[in-house]
Amino acid sequence: MALQPTILRFDSIDSTNLEAMRQAKDGAPEGLCIVARQQTRGRGRLDRTWESPFDAGLYMSLLLRPQFEMSVWPLITLMAALAVHDALAKTCGLTVDIKWPNDLCWDDRKLCGILAETVETNRGPAAIVGIGINLKTDPGFPMAAEAVSIQSATGAAPNAEDVLNGLLELIANHYQLLETSSGREHLIREWCTHSSYAFGRRVRVALPDENFEGTTRGLESDGALRVETGKGNLRVVRAGDVTGVRSSNIN
Ligand code: BTN
Repeated sequence: MALQPTILRFDSIDSTNLEAMRQAKDGAPEGLCIVARQQTRGRGRLDRTWESPFDAGLYMSLLLRPQFEMSVWPLITLMAALAVHDALAKTCGLTVDIKWPNDLCWDDRKLCGILAETVETNRGPAAIVGIGINLKTDPGFPMAAEAVSIQSATGAAPNAEDVLNGLLELIANHYQLLETSSGREHLIREWCTHSSYAFGRRVRVALPDENFEGTTRGLESDGALRVETGKGNLRVVRAGDVTGVRSSNIN
């Protein structure tokens, strides 16, 4: 059955991911979607902070209780990124670039970040998909130079409800793709179509104990990024930070 989201709204909360985790541990069902107008402890990947001023962004976390194998779970982040890509095209007419594994960029600046986390609950393991989209620029809270909002990209402040509803519809649609291998292959192909990082992009990879550069060569079936570091030398990246090296997009 298709995912049926139920939205639970807060004016202010520490983090929608933390709230979704608490509710998951209390046995909440798949589809619970926590939305807040502000986060006081918004969290990003690698223990970073996600600044979340009041009404400047869409801050949401969706609780999933996937029935497919754990080996497929890493594709949840890619599925969410593709859903954001498609939702922004549909609701704002905005074309964004998917940056592996969890960012959406416009003009090489970050417009959305995704933080997918797993949590053990008494109903089995659950996944929390946290999505933060910069809707507009809060004049009292200037954005970092490497970030951008939909408002600056399109010249118009988006309707947050339209973006949220469009996004939930597309997540429900794309989530189903993860259930079959043909669906997963389709998802990866779509992801690659909308990401300048998929093929032939010169990147720098930062791992906890090592940095290296190479050229991207597509995705593994679990969503890991293939990076060629020398003739015939292929590295498979499953974690860490990947940044585009400017001025060389080669094949
Ligand atoms: C990243 O780019 O590092 C991921 C950022 C994810 C931010 C969102 S905002 C809604 C949800 N709640 C959080 O605390 N984080 C995610």
